[in-house]
Amino acid sequence: MGRTDFVHGQFGENFTIEGLPDNAVCIGDRYRIGSALFEVTQPRVTCYRVGIRMNEPRMPALLTSSGRPGFYFRVLEEGAVGAGDEILKVGEAKERMTVAEINALLYSPNHARDGLARALRIEALSPGWRASFEALIESETTTARSGNAGLMPAAAAHPAVPGFRRLVVTTIDQEAEDVLSLTMQCPDGRSLQTVLPGQYVVLRIQPHAGGPFVFRSYSLSGPPSTQHYRISVKIESNGVAGTYLREHVGMGGVLDVSSPRGSFILQPGGRPVVLLSAGIGATPVLAMLHALAASRSAREVLWLHAARDRQHHPFAAEVRRLMPALAHGRSYVCYSRPASHDKIGEDFDAAGHLSRSVFEEVGLSREADVYLCGPPRFMADMRETLATLGVARERVHVEIFNGGEAMTPGVVAAPMRAPHLPEEDANTGPLVSFARSGITAHWKTTAYQSILELAEACDVSVRWSCRTGVCHNCESGLISGSITYQPDPLDSPAAGNLLICCSRPQDDVVIDI
Ligand SMILES: Cc1cc2nc3c(=O)[nH]c(=O)nc-3n(C[C@H](O)[C@H](O)[C@H](O)COP(=O)(O)OP(=O)(O)OC[C@H]3O[C@@H](n4cnc5c(N)ncnc54)[C@H](O)[C@@H]3O)c2cc1C
Ligand code: FES
Repeated sequence: MGRTDFVHGQFGENFTIEGLPDNAVCIGDRYRIGSALFEVTQPRVTCYRVGIRMNEPRMPALLTSSGRPGFYFRVLEEGAVGAGDEILKVGEAKERMTVAEINALLYSPNHARDGLARALRIEALSPGWRASFEALIESETTTARSGNAGLMPAAAAHPAVPGFRRLVVTTIDQEAEDVLSLTMQCPDGRSLQTVLPGQYVVLRIQPHAGGPFVFRSYSLSGPPSTQHYRISVKIESNGVAGTYLREHVGMGGVLDVSSPRGSFILQPGGRPVVLLSAGIGATPVLAMLHALAASRSAREVLWLHAARDRQHHPFAAEVRRLMPALAHGRSYVCYSRPASHDKIGEDFDAAGHLSRSVFEEVGLSREADVYLCGPPRFMADMRETLATLGVARERVHVEIFNGGEAMTPGVVAAPMRAPHLPEEDANTGPLVSFARSGITAHWKTTAYQSILELAEACDVSVRWSCRTGVCHNCESGLISGSITYQPDPLDSPAAGNLLICCSRPQDDVVIDI
């Protein structure tokens, strides 16, 4: 780098040492320093903060691509350590793989199977890296199209083909006072893409002829099918897409629909299943109930739903019809404000809200996989209640209808603003639409280095760590359009996905965040 301004601790390191280069030190090597004993567990994971320290934003990528990231120690024996202490090697793993080799195995495009198998034989390897290598070895192929399974975040784990398909509306059903279902199929009867229960499609809608497109996501609410897709839309007062669909799309109407996408899907296995929803949040879990009923699942299935009253309780008859197909299916519905003619025991089971005491009364299993969807306040309450009941966090799967879950390491939590247009939205340049957040803004090359920076200017919920195309935390679905990379990522995302931290739009793009 030709720089001479470095001081000890410049890289954020705990130990500044002489010797021990990354191409000589192996995972599992043990060192005595002072009276403490250490073991090498993994290469250092760099994040954007090292770029800030060095005043060089490319630093995380440079450290990783140069094969000199540094490494982490596990403390085997605590002790006193001082500057000037000798570093004595006292042991090593049987399988010899250097820090540089292990680093390249995860971050470069070459994930050689024999290398992965060797790495997994090293007991000292940290659990996180082990999980990444297991995911790489399990991924069917290690070609560029499948992306890097070791780094791909769960939110981007089901990439879909970009683009929209024209589907024709074949049925419209009024499910409740404010909910319409639209069933669609291919006009020429061709098959649709297979849907995993819980996934959604993105609609491209043009509310005014010649005006801008809006993009809205809708969970597929019907039974699994490659002939029909059904969406169920809550019509909000003043809601752009909902109002347009109600007023202007009739039977035979044509809609532009994306491939099904999303990672909120029913997990296979025998665990009990809890489908927990409020309001229009019922749609993805209803698709799961359909799938369970269609396979006559023997799993314990608990349908828990909160609605205001019977008029605002869509799919009540449909759920009742599906339940008998399940040997161990039960349902429990709470109305927060039952009307005088709503019948307890028939329309609903209890007045009030879903709560810990309801969960205890219905015997919600702590071992269950819980699928949760509803308004933000409901989701927050339910997550807290499930945690206090002892349901493990990783078994609570959530779908968020307004944006996604953020990951912004090192940033002090600030009150979240609803997504909005940037302060100064240009009126030229490619349009960048953030579909989950319902925002479309113009790209301005002089204002943003990456799509991530534009998303941040709009307060769209984002995930990132390195911000230079190394870690894949920002990997997201590319719903339509094309992008270029600057800089190129070290390894490609899966086909159908993009890394927003190092990409710019080439034309109008729609992104699944
Ligand atoms: C993965 C995913 C799955 C989803 N699944 C479903 C689903 O199955 N069913 C479903 O109905 N929705 C679903 N959504 C939500 C859906 O995508 C839309 O966000 C929602 O339908 C609202 O869109 P809209 O255009 O009708 O309303 P918008 O125009 O986006 O308005 C949203 C809200 O803002 C209010 N508003 C709008 N303009 C103004 C204004 N000028 N002043 C004050 N308030 C205003 C509206 O009244 C409304 O309450 C899903 C979202 C995601 C991300
Ligand atoms: S934030 Fe690390 S690749 Fe984008």
